[in-house]
Amino acid sequence: MSDQSNNFETKAIRTQIERSQYLEHSNPLFLTSSFVFEDAEDMRASFAEEKERNIYSRFTNPNTSEFVEKICKMEEAEDGYAFATGMAAIFSTFAALLNSGDHIVSVRSVFGSTHTLFTKFLPKWNISTSYFKVNEVDKIKSLINPNTKILYAESPTNPAVDILDLEHLGRIAKKHNLILIIDNCFATPYLQQPIKFGADLVIHSATKLIDGQGRVLGGITVGKADLIREIYLFSRNTGPALSPFNAWILSKSLETLAVRVDRHCENAVKVAEFLENHKKVNLVKYPFLKSHPQYKIAKKQMKLGGTVVAFEIKGGITAGRNFLNAVKLCSLSANLGDTRTIVIHPASTTHSKLSDEDRLETGITDSLVRVSVGLENVNDIINDLKQALESI
Ligand SMILES: Cc1ncc(COP(=O)(O)O)c(C=O)c1O
Repeated sequence: MSDQSNNFETKAIRTQIERSQYLEHSNPLFLTSSFVFEDAEDMRASFAEEKERNIYSRFTNPNTSEFVEKICKMEEAEDGYAFATGMAAIFSTFAALLNSGDHIVSVRSVFGSTHTLFTKFLPKWNISTSYFKVNEVDKIKSLINPNTKILYAESPTNPAVDILDLEHLGRIAKKHNLILIIDNCFATPYLQQPIKFGADLVIHSATKLIDGQGRVLGGITVGKADLIREIYLFSRNTGPALSPFNAWILSKSLETLAVRVDRHCENAVKVAEFLENHKKVNLVKYPFLKSHPQYKIAKKQMKLGGTVVAFEIKGGITAGRNFLNAVKLCSLSANLGDTRTIVIHPASTTHSKLSDEDRLETGITDSLVRVSVGLENVNDIINDLKQALESI
């Protein structure tokens, strides 16, 4: 890999696998399941891990290695492993590091499938989870038991865009010898690098802003080399690997991450300010609005406020649904971090199966709408939101 600078944008563009004999400028796609060996000794030594060598694309592939190396440089992580989806990254990380009887302490506001993993699947292997609310970080210490192994959080949270103080979590994890894992999906390594604040591992759904164009699924875990080694051994044998094609797309996408995310954030601030001044809106949550409850923490740990704005429409669940029916330009879709602006009403869709109490605990009120602000002209985005609000 060529290594020319420590600046984020240059690392994203100039971290590249070695050129082939064709001297291509743009890196090629290695669409191959396996690799060949010089002779029997080369093959033996490669399987014995005496050489760093591609053997089989379930273990490593040049395209996935390039993607992993880029994210490691961006997150300032020692090593990483890339997965088929963000959920594969989350599940494999827990499965590789935990044993029966272990315990997790997690923020309550986690992505829906992560919550299902904690409450439905990990208990099958006698792994339990205790939750703290976003505004109850002082309670974390009382939840830690002798069998607690992992402290887990997302920041900003999905979908209520709450912020957790990563430095504070880092201190607790260090004091109690816990592995701190941060889902950094909403921020991307461009806006926030949790390892600097004490995280041991950082997870991404690359499906979101890392792809940025709603094309492919992907996930990645990066962090301390000894932990990644465990995750690698688990994954090499169980098969959640990212495909070379998706790795190639995602590595290309990283080349434009900084410029894309800059514009996403510029648009998102304008959308948040517009919503904050609209008479049909009760509340707007955006990390870089002064009215955000954790504004100071967001400013401390994030470069910009991110792409997602959450807001509450006056009029409850019906108003939320009517608003979705009234938008014309914005898409109704479950994804986020796309070039296209996406709106979703969590209470009637992604979080409809939660009890009212559980929903409120994660900050999802009946009229909460999540907007993933895209890269269309911001005036067009605002005009669409405006006409939708005015028609309900
Ligand atoms: C914060 C967060 N983590 C993890 C995931 C899961 O990622 P994937 O859909 O790539 O499995 C998502 C998906 O929306 C997410 O928003």
